[in-house]
Amino acid sequence: MSLPFLIISLINIVYVLTQGFPKDMNLHVTFPPILERHESMPLGHLRPLGWQRRAEASVLQDSIAISPQLFYQQYVQGNRSLVLRGIVLNSPAIDKWSDVYLSKKYGLLNITVSKRKQHLVDSLETMLFSKFLQNYRHDDLYMNTIIPDEMKVETPLISLVNCGTFKHRLLEPVIWISAGDTASLLHSHSKDTIHCMIDGRKDFIILDHLDKIDGLDLVPQSNGDLYSKIDVDMVNVFKYKRLNSIPWYWVTLREGDCLYIPTQVLHQVRAHGRTISVSIDIAQPDTREDFEDEGCEKNPPSYISLDNGEFIWRYIHGRRHLARRNIETKDVQNYLLLLLGSNDQLYYSVFLDFYQQATWELKDAPDAVLIWDQLRKSTNINATMTIESDVNYIERTKIKTLSVTSAKLLAETLQRSARIHEYDKTEL
Ligand SMILES: *[C@@H]1O[C@H](CO)[C@@H](O)[C@H](O)[C@H]1NC(C)=O
Ligand SMILES: *[C@@H]1O[C@H](CO)[C@@H](O)[C@H](O)[C@H]1NC(C)=O
Ligand SMILES: *[C@@H]1O[C@H](CO)[C@@H](O)[C@H](O)[C@H]1NC(C)=O
Repeated sequence: MSLPFLIISLINIVYVLTQGFPKDMNLHVTFPPILERHESMPLGHLRPLGWQRRAEASVLQDSIAISPQLFYQQYVQGNRSLVLRGIVLNSPAIDKWSDVYLSKKYGLLNITVSKRKQHLVDSLETMLFSKFLQNYRHDDLYMNTIIPDEMKVETPLISLVNCGTFKHRLLEPVIWISAGDTASLLHSHSKDTIHCMIDGRKDFIILDHLDKIDGLDLVPQSNGDLYSKIDVDMVNVFKYKRLNSIPWYWVTLREGDCLYIPTQVLHQVRAHGRTISVSIDIAQPDTREDFEDEGCEKNPPSYISLDNGEFIWRYIHGRRHLARRNIETKDVQNYLLLLLGSNDQLYYSVFLDFYQQATWELKDAPDAVLIWDQLRKSTNINATMTIESDVNYIERTKIKTLSVTSAKLLAETLQRSARIHEYDKTEL
């Protein structure tokens, strides 16, 4: 063994002993996969998701100059995923966000980190951003956190969703950072999502146009998301026979690309190398309604900075808080309509999830059931008679005519909770 080689080997060993194994950062992966048939086994058995059937086609792509109206009609109402190539390519985040830069500029922020992917419930932990950046290239860690206000100026928001129908439906922007190959479960969200790549590569499997969702072992989450129990690295085709017949669409995102995924559309993601992405959740509009184009400019820049967006949620002290400070009946009504999406019934579990997120810090928050019962009291004279105790949802029409009395307790509670950190200050 030559001396230089020995030295390098020793350095490697010391590195591994002190730091753990660095992850595989290879970006050259074949996707969609080339399927291999074996006589003795059904196609894709014990192979990753995507090996069970040839991809139907790539996800639709459109011009980055598409108007918000057309985007709404073709993809939001049309319920189809869409990729917009290079739409945020010139943003400062893409230029600047090296680990060194992020650590220097934002290292002292507290962020939320997950301990592993591929679990129904990830273990979440709060840590300093700088500590995450030191460790994520070799530890089983990835970051997903609502983007701190401090970082928003450098983060892109596509103009497409910052006007008209979309403008007041922006829920929250989340930043994702990971290293090495990681795979998500097959899942869907109860919101529309726009996912933009800042660095690295992500491969998506998208089940657009799926009519039935049975046979996929889906577990509903309290917020309306669905997660499949299928092991995406080693699929048991005998158990999940349907995967041989479900058409799927593929797309590879690279820096600057954004992907729109509609509410309830199942998808699975594989990240390669160092990835940074920003996803924006948008409450699904009632797609029976036409596009409202108020505030949409003729030729806007393809993206603006994220601090220009008015999001429902915001990050304070590492946690989610409602952004509004004054909360009145019409705001309560608006929150409930956002939770409704394009459904006609708002279920208690969905409301409860929202209520808990919004009031978790408030020690004396009224019981959610109490608030729910008030909301269910109808505005009309027959009010007290209309509560059917076995119904656990509220109709859209009832929310649209919500009375001040019904909304009062919720408005009051949400406002107290939203201002909790201001009260801290005045009490001192
Ligand atoms: C981050 O969290 C730590 C521990 O909870 C706290 O001491 C520190 O002040 C927080 N930093 C910021 C910027 O919020
Ligand atoms: C959109 O399509 C998905 C399946 O691809 C389906 O589950 C969902 O219900 C559809 N949404 C609407 C609003 O039609
Ligand atoms: C109250 O109920 C009666 C009988 O069900 C109905 O005829 C009447 O229109 C209702 N009043 C209102 C204001 O909804």
